[in-house]
Amino acid sequence: MYAYTHVRLVCLAWSIAMAITADDKVAPPVLKANREILKPPSESYKPQQIHISLGDTTSEMNIMWATQVHDTSIVEFHTGDRQDMKRVEGQTRKLEADNTNGLKYLHHVKLEDLLPQTKYFYNVRGEADDTLSDQFSFTVPPVMAGNTHTFMVYGDLGTKAKDMQFLLQEALNEKYEAIFHVGDIAYDLDGNEGETGDKFLQTVEKVAARIPYMTIPGDHERNHSYLHYTYRFAMPNLPWPMPSDKLWYSLDIGPIHFVMYSTEVFFDDEVNAEVMLKWLKEDLDQANMQRSAKPWIIAMGHRPMYCSVDDIGDDCRRTVPVVRRELEDLFFAEGVDLIISGHQHFYERTWPIYKQKATQYNYRHPSAPVHLTIGTLGSVYKIDNSINLGGQWSAFVISEAGKESFGRLKVYNATHLSWEVRECSNGKVVDRMWINQPYHRPFHKQPEVFLPNPLGEMGQEWLDNQRSESFGLEAFLGIKGNHYGDDFQTKLTVLFCVFVICVVGLIARKKVLTLIRICCLKKEPCNKLKASLMSDSSNV
Ligand SMILES: *[C@@H]1O[C@H](CO)[C@@H](O)[C@H](O)[C@H]1NC(C)=O
Ligand SMILES: *[C@@H]1O[C@H](CO)[C@@H](O)[C@H](O)[C@H]1NC(C)=O
Repeated sequence: MYAYTHVRLVCLAWSIAMAITADDKVAPPVLKANREILKPPSESYKPQQIHISLGDTTSEMNIMWATQVHDTSIVEFHTGDRQDMKRVEGQTRKLEADNTNGLKYLHHVKLEDLLPQTKYFYNVRGEADDTLSDQFSFTVPPVMAGNTHTFMVYGDLGTKAKDMQFLLQEALNEKYEAIFHVGDIAYDLDGNEGETGDKFLQTVEKVAARIPYMTIPGDHERNHSYLHYTYRFAMPNLPWPMPSDKLWYSLDIGPIHFVMYSTEVFFDDEVNAEVMLKWLKEDLDQANMQRSAKPWIIAMGHRPMYCSVDDIGDDCRRTVPVVRRELEDLFFAEGVDLIISGHQHFYERTWPIYKQKATQYNYRHPSAPVHLTIGTLGSVYKIDNSINLGGQWSAFVISEAGKESFGRLKVYNATHLSWEVRECSNGKVVDRMWINQPYHRPFHKQPEVFLPNPLGEMGQEWLDNQRSESFGLEAFLGIKGNHYGDDFQTKLTVLFCVFVICVVGLIARKKVLTLIRICCLKKEPCNKLKASLMSDSSNV
């Protein structure tokens, strides 16, 4: 009995062993069959969350997407004629940490040498043909002067925003050159182990795949050394994945130098803050050297320097806010025209302000930076109520807390910029501002007369001076109080030329007289000239 059982067991073991070795021997077909069964459904290869951002210049575009399984990163693009199709391969990276529920494979491809003001069509794909995505298109911003540049600006947008669909539709209807999301993205990118980030990027895809989606980190991106932020976005002048200790960059679009900085470094790491401050100074010094070509400097960082909110726990409500302490002097000295932030879930506009004092109560030729805080889209997560702090610097605060809104920034030319805030529920304009700045400069300097562009900026100021009561040379030059007329330089140039002609005439009067004598007092040539003119006219 025992022996019989023993034999049966041995036989069983033998047959199992045989079966395994048999499997090994016929490995190729079995493996192939297995792969067919195990092959992930094509859905796992499908590119999702496609979004784009400008590269180091406006002639470059980063294209990003995510897939569930590993695949190559390929973009095929053309300008409308498939004959011109180009194919570029990029990088694939796996994002594992805090991402058990998210798509793990992130893809990045950079397109280069794009032509300004040109529309490009593109698809993204992996190795196999059936991974081809839908086709999207984007238009490269113009570089020539004379174009208006329009941007959408907001902060603090997550998946729960009530008016998300309105916002996306608005972005598609208007011709925005880029969208600036000034920190606090998705609440949070790594929320629910990556699911929240995926959901956000999938929701904004229809816009972010067509309009460059430019970001900076906010406090909600700080988790795990900004890991998800650095993998899910690619920004100008940074490698990808972005280095978590350098989440700042600058970018020129038309006449604007955008400076995108991290306010979080001031709360994370002193050493990193020093590195950023050094970079900011160098970048802004450089920007001031090319100021006549790129007159506007617009800076964006997540946390504001000034705010009238009732939450006394916030940095901007401290007696000396950290962000203000670190940046205000620098931005004033470098003549930053506009500073835009989020973080507070409300909207506020200041007068041109320096050291808690408004330098004026209008936006004509500002003598200090203007601050805007546009974080209302975050009010579904937390409402920040406004409070009257009695400061003279606050020009406008949104009255109804909790209303979602966004900013529309339009740069018309070297001197005029407009800013509008629109309510998302109905598109109504709730605030509007024009900045007229003919004297872009480090603000501790008096307005200077710029010699380039002598014919620019005729118009309003000149008309004003026509009506003004000054007389004589001052009226002619358009000097009114401390202000110089917009065409001051032109007139000065004319005066200068007249002066030069007079001086030359005086110094070289003998030579001038001789010249006149040679031509007209020597009768012979003059008579000949007359004769030839006479014969010419009689011929006619
Ligand atoms: C990430 O952030 C969430 C909330 O924002 C927090 O609860 C969690 O502890 C953070 N994780 C890490 C690793 O910091
Ligand atoms: C700049 O744009 C504004 C607004 O459109 C306009 O009023 C102004 O005349 C323009 N200036 C120049 C020099 O084109």
